[in-house]
Amino acid sequence: MRTIIEPFRIKVVEPIRMTSREERAKLIRHAGYNPFRLKAENVLIDLLTDSGTGAMSTHQWAGVMEGDESYAGARSFFKFEAAVRGIFGHAHVIPTHQGRASERLLCRAVVKPGDVIPGNTHFDTTRANIEDAGAEARDLVIAEGRDPDLDHPFKGNIDLAALERCLAEAGRERVPFVLITVTNNSGGGQPVSMANLTGARALCDRFGVPLLLDAARFAENAYFIKLREPGYGDKTPRGIAREMFALSDGVMMSMKKDAFGNIGGVISINSDEWADKVRTLLILTEGFITYGGLAGRDLEALAIGIEEILDEDYLKYRIASTAYVGNNLSAAGVPLLKPIGGHAVYLNGRKFCDHIPNEQLPGWSLSVALYEHVGVRACEIGNVMFGTQDPKTGAWTWPALDLVRLAIPRRTYTQSHMDYVVEGIAELYQHREEIRGLRFVHRPAVLPHFTATFEQV
Ligand code: F0G
Repeated sequence: MRTIIEPFRIKVVEPIRMTSREERAKLIRHAGYNPFRLKAENVLIDLLTDSGTGAMSTHQWAGVMEGDESYAGARSFFKFEAAVRGIFGHAHVIPTHQGRASERLLCRAVVKPGDVIPGNTHFDTTRANIEDAGAEARDLVIAEGRDPDLDHPFKGNIDLAALERCLAEAGRERVPFVLITVTNNSGGGQPVSMANLTGARALCDRFGVPLLLDAARFAENAYFIKLREPGYGDKTPRGIAREMFALSDGVMMSMKKDAFGNIGGVISINSDEWADKVRTLLILTEGFITYGGLAGRDLEALAIGIEEILDEDYLKYRIASTAYVGNNLSAAGVPLLKPIGGHAVYLNGRKFCDHIPNEQLPGWSLSVALYEHVGVRACEIGNVMFGTQDPKTGAWTWPALDLVRLAIPRRTYTQSHMDYVVEGIAELYQHREEIRGLRFVHRPAVLPHFTATFEQV
């Protein structure tokens, strides 16, 4: 097979700055050993997130010029609404400034203390917003999804038997909605099958509970269905996406991923009652109902981006180029989560640093070492992000997986950038026993990873 090439050429470039190892050792120490606290200009290749970090197309930039900045009823809103409705198909399209704003608005509007929100794996801000509303965020991903070494085509699937038990136990009074995240970011960027969504829909119908999708990476999920699910090989990504969303009552989406936006989000729902409540809150904190905290130019860029993402040549390149990184790392013996996800490769922190105990945060320590070694910034999704400490005994509970995510921004880096990343990590793996563990100096109570500080053990 021929090399799958980047289906674009480069028209504008942004310089990146080389740093020395000594410089980086100092910079990360000053940052309290927290890669989130580094200045981005001191990062060579930034794989912290694929959120808001993609490159916009010529069409999107042209759209920026077309942005209508009218406070109410802007032309750009109607273009946005049509594009979103054309894919999701719900009655109400409500723009928000990003995914977590959608989460907060919807949780404030319809979640009450004591509720349970079942899902495959809730993203960290989703979980935090659910908990902030006094409810429980319950992760019910299939058992295969918790085993990092197991190959399975749809590791993002929700465990339907567990969902059924949860719905039977809590009932529609305590479950305002089920939320399935496509692809399952916190579980490794793994897709959810159409069969699984159909099964969840049937259970939701039986118990009279709405089914919502967190659609941050819906196009990647649709393409995985095309590649892996029998009967979908000849369908278009758009057709598959339409079929996925036809099973849902609503969507929350961060449009900073699969809409090629630098900023933006949306709530798309069928319920008039929920839409009313959300719009009231929207006006209170985000802005009028036709802009939701975004500029008209953002709405234009998003309306174009959400169409572009469904381009089959793009999705083929996207999935193949992420797999390229993962397969090359795997060939070098580096332990990682399998199969390779859509937007990211996840290193297995505990296996990579098997000399570092959980208390010394193996995944986080690896992300620090990676920055020091080659200037690549990655994000731990593991012990620091999800570990919890019993306030009475001080005992820690660690999450099932301690991963380090190499999230690949869309249309931003070339294959040689990725070759450099692979070489750097393979080298680090050869010298892994030199990686030192870390301990907390300061651990904030909510979403600790963003601002925590550490010291070397
Ligand atoms: N849902 C999912 C599945 C996400 O991955 C994110 C963000 C959000 C919701 C929240 O959206 O950032 O626009 O407020 N994920 C980013 C990441 C931050 O790095 O994975 P947001």
